[in-house]
Amino acid sequence: MDDLINQPQTESLAASNQPAGRPTAGRKVYVETYGCQMNEADTEIVLSLMNREGYQPTNSIETADVVFLNTCSVRDNAEQRIHGRLNHIAFHKKKKPEMVVGVLGCMAERLRRKLIHEGSIVDVVVGPDEYRALPELVNEAQFGTKGLAVKLSRVETYDDVTPLRTEGISAWLSVMRGCDKFCTFCVVPFTRGRERSRSMESIVQEVEGLAKHGFRELTLLGQNVNSYRWEGRDFADLLAAVADVDPLMRIRYTTSHPQDMSDKLIETMASRKNICNYIHLPVQSGSNRVLQLMNRTYTIEHYLERIASIHALIPNVSMSTDIIAGFPTETDDDHRQTIELIKQVRYDGAYMFKYSPRENTKAWAMGDSVPEEVKSARLAEIIDVQRTIAEENNQRHVGTIEEVLVDGESKKDASEWKGRTDTNKVVIFRHGDEQVGEYVNVKIHRGTAATLFGSIVDAEGRPKEFPIELAVVG
Ligand code: SAH
Ligand code: SF4
Ligand code: F3S
Repeated sequence: MDDLINQPQTESLAASNQPAGRPTAGRKVYVETYGCQMNEADTEIVLSLMNREGYQPTNSIETADVVFLNTCSVRDNAEQRIHGRLNHIAFHKKKKPEMVVGVLGCMAERLRRKLIHEGSIVDVVVGPDEYRALPELVNEAQFGTKGLAVKLSRVETYDDVTPLRTEGISAWLSVMRGCDKFCTFCVVPFTRGRERSRSMESIVQEVEGLAKHGFRELTLLGQNVNSYRWEGRDFADLLAAVADVDPLMRIRYTTSHPQDMSDKLIETMASRKNICNYIHLPVQSGSNRVLQLMNRTYTIEHYLERIASIHALIPNVSMSTDIIAGFPTETDDDHRQTIELIKQVRYDGAYMFKYSPRENTKAWAMGDSVPEEVKSARLAEIIDVQRTIAEENNQRHVGTIEEVLVDGESKKDASEWKGRTDTNKVVIFRHGDEQVGEYVNVKIHRGTAATLFGSIVDAEGRPKEFPIELAVVG
């Protein structure tokens, strides 16, 4: 099988830049993206690299000449979903055998050659640091040569590639790649490689371009975004520089590691109005014993001290987290400590997962000792406690006026807008004559665990549209 696999060298890539009128012009590429925001941002890089070679993005798989799945490996069910999708795509490929199918992202990096086994519909397998090789590999695949490119890089940041973003007001921007933390449960250091940062100058330049194009919200991305380092400058310096580009552009970031949540970063957040008062700070477990087994490198005491500093400097801050239920050897007492922590911090949101053993991680060697039904029961309790807290937290907004960035029509009802507060809460309110990308004041009438509902008011807090019966009186 080896001779079927084409492994391009980076040096040969220049030769793949074909002149105008190239055979790929007008060909269509369709991408499905799974996993985290880093993958969303990478898809825009992939589309940009393909577009340079003449490919146009399409939303319909039927019209596509090239189909990519940008995949996630973080939990087993993420990978199972991709296998399911590949079976479905096989049906399209049967009708159109010349269609090139590629698996990109973390699963490509993890499973590599296994994805190109004989009889597989997959033509190219390309890991997160090899996207520059894609156009060439797709070309080769059209002539029947399967392609594999999964080398990880210590330097690749796609610094010079302007992502092909879809129109909108919110943009992702990767500022660093990889992860050096090696939490024992996690595949990311193996699928994304070592930590490396993009140059601060090129990031600021890209943000200036985004501001000119009318983007109103920007999320700086990295698996450990707050360990960003560039020529002696840290993530707080970057955040300040980015926020200073345009005071009307809201700046968010994700994901931060508790160990790197410095005072300087918290002070920087507090010092600029357009840096959103929202922090996603994954804790994973409320038990120090489990945190140590996870190699999270902090204690609960450190974590709570960081939260206290955040609240002291950013009074209306909103916090969210990630939690894993059923890590190997987790006891009822460890689990109870996680529940206690959730109650103490009172997060506005949380991503909650059952532990999923991943081959070759350190935790894999610890076995999967918590029985499935215990994991499920613990997760259900975590979700239940968290939902109640989020709902209670949201009641505090009822009667307040929030500044909301309008980001589109509500999915359920086209006569309603959907927007977000600076604390990242979704707000639904009735349409007026405002536009997407505008800031409006919304008075909140009610809240569920996930959503706030309200109506637009003017700067003094008066309703913009009077109810009919009031309007006709007098
Ligand atoms: N870099 C981020 C998040 C990475 S992955 C951080 O350090 O917080 C997103 C989340 O998936 C993790 O925070 C963790 O809660 C979860 N996760 C990662 N590996 C997992 C596994 N093997 N089983 C279950 N959940 C996992
Ligand atoms: Fe995974 Fe830990 Fe790195 Fe997050 S910090 S990506 S959980 S290894
Ligand atoms: Fe998944 Fe890779 Fe992101 S494993 S969570 S897509 S970094």
